[in-house]
Formats: sequence, structure tokens, C-alpha cells
Amino acid sequence: MPKVNINLSPQQLMEKLISIQKERGICFHSLIKDSDKIIKQITEINRLKAEKNAIILAHTYVIPEIIYGVGDFVGDSYALSKNAKESNAKIIVFAAVRFMGETAKIICPDKEVFVPGKEDGCTLADCITANDVKRLRRKFPDYTFVCYINTTAEVKAECDVCVTSANVNKVVAAIPSDKIYFLPDKMMGQNLITQMKKEGINKGIKYYNGTCYVHEEYTIGQLLEAKKKFPKAKVISHPECLPEVCAKSDFIGSTSQLYKYIQGSPDKEFLLLTECGLASRIKIEFPDKRIVGTCTFCKYMKSNALEDILRVLTKPLARDYVRVNEKIRARALKCIDAMFKYAEA
Ligand code: 13P
Ligand code: SF4
Repeated sequence: MPKVNINLSPQQLMEKLISIQKERGICFHSLIKDSDKIIKQITEINRLKAEKNAIILAHTYVIPEIIYGVGDFVGDSYALSKNAKESNAKIIVFAAVRFMGETAKIICPDKEVFVPGKEDGCTLADCITANDVKRLRRKFPDYTFVCYINTTAEVKAECDVCVTSANVNKVVAAIPSDKIYFLPDKMMGQNLITQMKKEGINKGIKYYNGTCYVHEEYTIGQLLEAKKKFPKAKVISHPECLPEVCAKSDFIGSTSQLYKYIQGSPDKEFLLLTECGLASRIKIEFPDKRIVGTCTFCKYMKSNALEDILRVLTKPLARDYVRVNEKIRARALKCIDAMFKYAEA
């Protein structure tokens, strides 16, 4: 499982981050000025984690101080949901966005789950409601409804099978139905259709109209421009990117799959079409790899701060708790369990 693979004292971590920030630039700010405060916060969070039997799951898009200072696991939404499932901790602090915390709560109802981010939304999860799905099911009664994990618990409860960016192609290929309604990401739906065609799998796939505001920013014009400037760079993209961008990419995958691709690649230059957090991880962990071009920020993921994690471990606010109604949870769990069944087969 993807354990955080930098093991340094808070002091050493800050020295490393500061030197990388100076040499290569890391996509975040105010690190140098706040170094002493950050060291104290990291030390206190780690003490509280041990005292309260808590673990911190950190998505790749959150700030490096969280990932390397206090995170127990770092990864994509699929890997982190498995970490939640397998953990014996009493408390899960999910440094990410609300739908990821909800997924952990659906899988582990007996654990206390917190999402510390101040803005814990997601443009995909927020673009569709359970009523929208009910309406679509009435319109397309013979379709299997497949939802991206970037959805609320209520939406999952109305769907048949959940997927993540790490397993969408595998799971949809394995579903014994040739009529699929995929929601809510339009780009991922279109990229799924392309991939199914490539694999010679014949399914009628309809899709919803949602987009991720971070990934839809990357245009084919930018990509072609960057390729001219950096002809040796491998272009790697998240499947939430535009279909024409994915079509010109050397590799498409979840954030963890992109990370592993770079880790295992003999190439040295990469144009990375996903949120800045992955570029930061590459710069910190792989000094011989060069990231070219620019990246975009997810304001929701970046709203997780060390002070928020300290708060949820000491005096949580009502909004920090993840609560899912039991009836909804049981139905959403079926949808998530169907994913595990197909993805792990
Ligand atoms: P991953 O599961 O690939 O980490 O993606 C989650 C996400 O929100 C991407 O924008
Ligand atoms: Fe949602 Fe996009 Fe942010 Fe991922 S990057 S959490 S899809 S808004």
C-alpha cells in the first residue's frame, strides 16, 4: 500500500522542503516564513495521532507539509479508500475533499471520520444530485448506472457500481451489461468510450455533463505548444482531462498511476496534466525528473491546512465530522462493494 515514503523529522523535512522550494520551486507559498510554526504543528499532530489512535490519509493534491509531515498514507482515491478499509485506527482524518471522507465513512461506519478542509467541495461531486439520478433512471431504465467516486453518498446510493480513475476501464469492461450510464464526468465518460473502442468492447455508453474545473483547463493548444518547446517530454494526463488532450498523451491514469509511471520511466522530462500536488511530489521525491509546463490548483484540496488537522484532533467543529444517514450508507456501500468486486477480480 502507498505509505508515505519520506521519513524525516519535522526539522529535516522543513529543511528539505525549503531547499527544494529554492532550487526547483514547489507549488505552494509562505513555507520559509512559517517554518518554526509548521514544525511545532507537525510535532503536535503526530503526538495527538498516537494518543487518539488516529490515522491521516492524504490525497496527493494536498500540501507537502501534510503529506510528508503527518500523513500515514498518500495516494489516489482508490488506494486511500482501501487504506481506510484495512485500517484498525479509531479515527480517520481524511486530508482531501468531502466525497473521499464520505467514502471512508460508508466503508467504515464504526470509525470517526473527519475532513479538515475549509472548502471541502468538488465541482464534479457538486454537479449532480440523487434526484437527478432518479430522473435519469426513469428515462433510461435498462441502463446500468456507473458513478465516479467523485459523487456524494446520496448519488452513490442511487447507482449500481462505483469507479475511480484507477479502475474505470477495468470495471466498466467487466460489468455484464452493454448499456452504461456514466456520471458525472463528461470527459471521463468520453475517454471511457475511446478506451472501450480500443479494447474492442462494444457497449452503448451515455454520460452526464459534469467537469472538473481543474482538469478542463488544459487545452490541446497548450499541449502542442509545450510539445514544441520540450520535444522530449512525455505527456501524461488524468482521465478528467479533455478527450483531445488525452488522445495526444503518452499515458493516462489516476494520480497514483501517473506517479508510478514517472517513477518507473527511463524518461526525464514530463508534461504533467493534473493538479499541482503531483508535480510537487515528483519534485520532492525524484530529483532527477523534470516537470515542464505549468499546473493548476484545486482550491478544495488546497484548503486542508495543518491548523485544520490540529482542530479536528482537539476541538472539532460540527462541519468537520463526516456523517452519512444509515439507509443511504447501506445502499451506497453496495455500489462501492460492486466496484471492489470488479476491480479486484
Ligand atoms: P484520483 O483518484 O486519480 O486521485 O483522482 C481524484 C480526483 O479528484 C482527481 O481530480
Ligand atoms: Fe474535484 Fe477536480 Fe478538485 Fe479533483 S481536482 S477534487 S475532481 S475539483
